[in-house]
Amino acid sequence: KTVHAHTGAVELGPYRHYMQKEIFEQPRAIADTLEGVEAIMPEIFGDKAYGIFKKIDSLLILACGTSYYAGVTAKYWIEAVAGIRVDVEIASEYRYRDSVPNPNALVVTISQSGETADTLAALRHAQSQGMQHTLTICNVSTSAMVRECELAYITRAGVEVGVASTKAFTTQLAALFLLTLTLAQVKGRLNDEQEAAYLKQMRHLPVAITSVLALEPQIIAWAEAFARKENALFLGRGLHYPIALEGALKLKEISYIHAEAYPAGELKHGPLALVTEEMPVVTVAPNDSMIEKLKSNMQEVRARGGELYVFADGDSRIASDDGLHVIRLPEHYGLLSPILHTVPLQLLAYHTALARGTDVDKPRNLAKSVTVE
Ligand code: AGP
Repeated sequence: KTVHAHTGAVELGPYRHYMQKEIFEQPRAIADTLEGVEAIMPEIFGDKAYGIFKKIDSLLILACGTSYYAGVTAKYWIEAVAGIRVDVEIASEYRYRDSVPNPNALVVTISQSGETADTLAALRHAQSQGMQHTLTICNVSTSAMVRECELAYITRAGVEVGVASTKAFTTQLAALFLLTLTLAQVKGRLNDEQEAAYLKQMRHLPVAITSVLALEPQIIAWAEAFARKENALFLGRGLHYPIALEGALKLKEISYIHAEAYPAGELKHGPLALVTEEMPVVTVAPNDSMIEKLKSNMQEVRARGGELYVFADGDSRIASDDGLHVIRLPEHYGLLSPILHTVPLQLLAYHTALARGTDVDKPRNLAKSVTVE
């Protein structure tokens, strides 16, 4: 990959768009982001991290867009593994509301650019309320966000040219899982064999993602059908609800199809009224503890004639049927499954946009970094 000094643009190589290239760079981006992490230790977040992590009693995560969805995923991980309370707020909402500050909280900002006006303003709002302990997960080490936070973990996704965030998101998730393990360790909830097992799984991520990327031809076939739709629902449960949110945002952003994501258990409380044979329903269906409940949610959709597009794990027994299309990821990947299940949703959005002929790398009305309100 060569970077042209004068334009800063990077070569597309065999890819048609930067977004496709960046989707396929994810194995490398995650490997780079995890490089040098031989063991879980607070210092990877900064010299003062141990003292701060020891002291805090909760987290307040502030972010926008895709980065906010990374924060929602982190909430499930951190509360389950580290036993620390996590509040996640949309930065543009938090910065203007009268909230209740907690000086013993760690404020965590998540931002690819490190220059998003709403997220910077939310950080400063929290600081003005006496919340002094701050950490950022950021992809640009020279950004305002990194300068203004006490602690930082710099993702190594490299330059992300596509407006739609892809490798930045999955490297944010990798960094947030490291944060999860570090907080668990400081709180005495991570023993040596758990640490070794999780690190082994994290190191295997580039290989696991590469095998998920091999599903692209099957996803292209789905994209042809999707391109003719005007609406879509995305369903997920638990850890994969924020992944469904991210999948819906990707489709909205670059194909301009109106897509909504719901926690699958929420269907019967209203959204089910939307389901007809015209409404494709994408379901993120990892083979985890929620799978049986998710299957009954899928039945609710089928009973109304809804067309199901299911991303399942290789070891689950969900079989294709009429109106029920299944693409299988190789294997269930435990707590790190959200990182893998993101990839096919990125590819679905990309190929649907391609089929619709939109400007994939520069979708209408959007900017790569929203540095103004
Ligand atoms: C995601 O695909 C969008 N590009 C957008 O939602 C983005 O995640 C959001 O603007 C936050 O940007 P940041 O991560 O640079 O703060």
